[in-house]
Amino acid sequence: MLLENKVAIVTGGDSGIGRAISLELAKEGAAVAINYRRNEQAAHEVKQLIEQASGKALVVQGDVSSLADLQTLVDRTVETFGRVDIMVNNAGMETRTSVLDSTEKDFDSVIGVNLKGPFFGTQLAAKQMIKQGGGGRIINISSVHEDWPMPGNSPYCCAKGGVRMLTRNAGVELAPHGITVVGVGPGAIDTPINKETLEDPAKSTALKKAIPAGRVGTPEEVAGLVVWLGSDKGAYVTATTYFIDGGIMQGSVGL
Ligand code: BGC
Repeated sequence: MLLENKVAIVTGGDSGIGRAISLELAKEGAAVAINYRRNEQAAHEVKQLIEQASGKALVVQGDVSSLADLQTLVDRTVETFGRVDIMVNNAGMETRTSVLDSTEKDFDSVIGVNLKGPFFGTQLAAKQMIKQGGGGRIINISSVHEDWPMPGNSPYCCAKGGVRMLTRNAGVELAPHGITVVGVGPGAIDTPINKETLEDPAKSTALKKAIPAGRVGTPEEVAGLVVWLGSDKGAYVTATTYFIDGGIMQGSVGL
């Protein structure tokens, strides 16, 4: 197992990519604190699955756009499992609104969850890692849209662009402490965030056509990369982003 005796936190660990990350980290031996905001039942289901496979898990409610909630998440994890080795800033949301039609609320909620959350999640996890010693891993689940426009999803792209620079800045600042900060940038993945697109036959066909691999990815594929980056094998990767997108960012009609 790659993560024996490690302790991980996964924000938004109850759903989509976060759920798969929680399960895969646990499969590799990590004790996992599963953060959720609204769906308590889903979070407990993930915990149960982990425990059924003889793993260790904890469920902590909290809104990642609240610094106090993030502090509680780190504190509860340390109280229960003694330390934090891997912080996965995964929780995300999108409003699918453009520059012209985004409201202040759209902007604040997306930036709060997708950028403020990872920023302070990184800060608080790093403080704990420095206190306990021995370094650590911070993994920010970003998106291809940290570097690639998605018309009609502007607050999301702005937040992910911020996560790109958070990863780079924090990676440089925290390197002397043995803490790596890595971005994982998924493309289109089969999760609740994409439900509407995937359930619409025309949109789903258009999306798949744009992906050189010809299909959307699975949450487990993303989770596999997170496990590797979170393990000792990923020790020299920092301040950069790994894209996992079936080639979507490089797609070209070739005309
Ligand atoms: C977004 C999806 C989008 C995908 C590929 C993801 O980051 O959340 O809405 O389909 O990128 O463009």
